[in-house]
Amino acid sequence: MKALYQELAGLLLKKKNCVALTGAGISAESGIPTFRSKGGLWEKFDPVVYASAEVFRKDPSKYWTIRGDFIRGYGEYKPNAAHYALVALEKMGILRHVITQNIDGLHKSAGSRSVTEIHGSLREIYCLKCGREYLAPHVPEGLPPCCECGGVLKPNTVLFGEQLPPEALEHAYHESATCKSMLVVGTSAVVQPAASLPYLAKRNGALVIEINPEKSFPAADYYIAQKAGPALSGIVAEIRGLN
Ligand code: OAD
Repeated sequence: MKALYQELAGLLLKKKNCVALTGAGISAESGIPTFRSKGGLWEKFDPVVYASAEVFRKDPSKYWTIRGDFIRGYGEYKPNAAHYALVALEKMGILRHVITQNIDGLHKSAGSRSVTEIHGSLREIYCLKCGREYLAPHVPEGLPPCCECGGVLKPNTVLFGEQLPPEALEHAYHESATCKSMLVVGTSAVVQPAASLPYLAKRNGALVIEINPEKSFPAADYYIAQKAGPALSGIVAEIRGLN
């Protein structure tokens, strides 16, 4: 593995302008279950029932059933070595942006500065009636929790059947189309439009490196069959060795 990390360290240093696309796998080592791996969230809860915009309109308690604990315990999960390795790459001037599908906020709490959360964030919660904003973990009790005005509260996250925020999506397309290298970390790459971003990067000449114990992006130039923490820390250590 050391030889591969050394080779990638050299390439990343040379190319710079790197963008990371991350998914639930990067937070797995923080103790947050993924969606589609064994024991993942969608094994227990059908996303069509628990995470669709249509069902939320009729019965918001379903979504709050799967997300309430995380929101009320917001801050209990901590970033792991992989999140911190991306912060280090940003500080070295190699990584210029993180596009994440994760709604856990861990890239930002680790210290990454340039982040697009394309599926939104569980931290921000809005009243659907009066628009008042609440910040996790401070939300009223109740299933679903309601605002003082009586309106239902909804986290600022994208549900199935909803459009991604246009500005975030445009930014993600731009970063992907113009980067020189892309790290694809811990995503099954099946949910669009995120899944199309590594292809966009590759079509525009970027070197694509996937880090995932199970390969999900067949067109990657390099594939590291490792967990995100050790792999990204290993690459960062090699870059430090070269500097
Ligand atoms: P998935 O659960 O679909 O995929 C997680 C990926 O992480 C899998 O490919 C695992 O092999 C990999 N993985 C697991 N542990 C890992 C580790 N320690 N290091 C690196 N990789 C690891 O999660 P996403 O691809 O993020 O959307 O799912 C995409 C979207 O589907 C989510 O944002 C969510 C979900 O439905 C919405 O809710 C809108």
